[in-house]
Amino acid sequence: MIRILSIALALLVLTACDNSQQPATSPHGEHNALPIKIKFSHVVAESTPKGIGANKFKQLVEQRLAGKVIVEVYPNSQLYGDDKEMEALLLGDVQLIAPSLAKFGKYTKKLQVFDLPFLFDDIHAVERFQKGTLGKQLLSAMAGQNFIGLGYWHNGMKQLSANKPLRIPADAKGLKFRIQHSDVLQTQFETLGANPQKLAFAEVYNALQTGVVDGAENPWSNIYSKKFHEVQKYFSETNHGVLDYLLVTSTQFWNGLPPKIRTELEKILNEVSEEVNKLALDVEAQDRQKVLDFAKQTSKTEVLTLTKEELAQWREVMKPVWQKFEADIGKDVIEAAIMANQSP
Ligand code: LMR
Repeated sequence: MIRILSIALALLVLTACDNSQQPATSPHGEHNALPIKIKFSHVVAESTPKGIGANKFKQLVEQRLAGKVIVEVYPNSQLYGDDKEMEALLLGDVQLIAPSLAKFGKYTKKLQVFDLPFLFDDIHAVERFQKGTLGKQLLSAMAGQNFIGLGYWHNGMKQLSANKPLRIPADAKGLKFRIQHSDVLQTQFETLGANPQKLAFAEVYNALQTGVVDGAENPWSNIYSKKFHEVQKYFSETNHGVLDYLLVTSTQFWNGLPPKIRTELEKILNEVSEEVNKLALDVEAQDRQKVLDFAKQTSKTEVLTLTKEELAQWREVMKPVWQKFEADIGKDVIEAAIMANQSP
């Protein structure tokens, strides 16, 4: 009898400990004594727009919700790589992530619009689209799957890299390119006659260094912070696509928060999103310059500026990709993105 009682007691204690990980709400949604823990996991360096945004979020939460919410940030795929972070969010192991928009294909086809090559002229067009009616609607494209989109964060436009100069599309033929987990990006490289390989971000440096792949596509902040310029001989400034993020949480976590705390977190996230989206262009310019400096000092790499005619060739060859994904994405969504290229 005593043995049964002690086992029951041990189980009770264990259950109580486990509950400490859950939002500290009473059945009435009031906040009780335990701080709510938000784990924010991401795969990039702290110096990138996403890294800066995650740390800023932590700082503001700890100022404004001291004692009520604590934030732990795990950068550089320390906790989860990008193959696992979405599952971890759905399982409640992390509460905030900001994967690249390219990585949601398993959950929605709509966000594929962001991967279409040469759709957006620049990051300002991307921003106009995200702030427009359809862009805002896409934030809830995965509502039925327990994901709530809380905002878009910019990184920047992507550049192509390889160990041979890529000036025209034919230069990419037969090369192996690392891509994010995106069917659009797969088709983009297949259209060039190249061999795309889906790899997690944490594996890119080694894959480039060891020759598992010959090239990649990345924005400047990811290139510089992960030292891809040390293992790629040429960068072509193509700006052929965007790499931006969707900040997401799980519906279960978000709706389980005490309303006042949720409102304050929303305010903070909106503030941080504005800030990230303002500073992304500066980070991009600075990191581009650092790669240029490295190229000048070491001659180990080179940044190629393409002519208008060369760029037109890339655009022409990649354009059929749009058609292939139009039915999945929606013609209206693609048209709204095209319209966003016109500044008001
Ligand atoms: C990549 O996998 O190349 C990017 O999505 C990484 C990131 O989060 O910027």
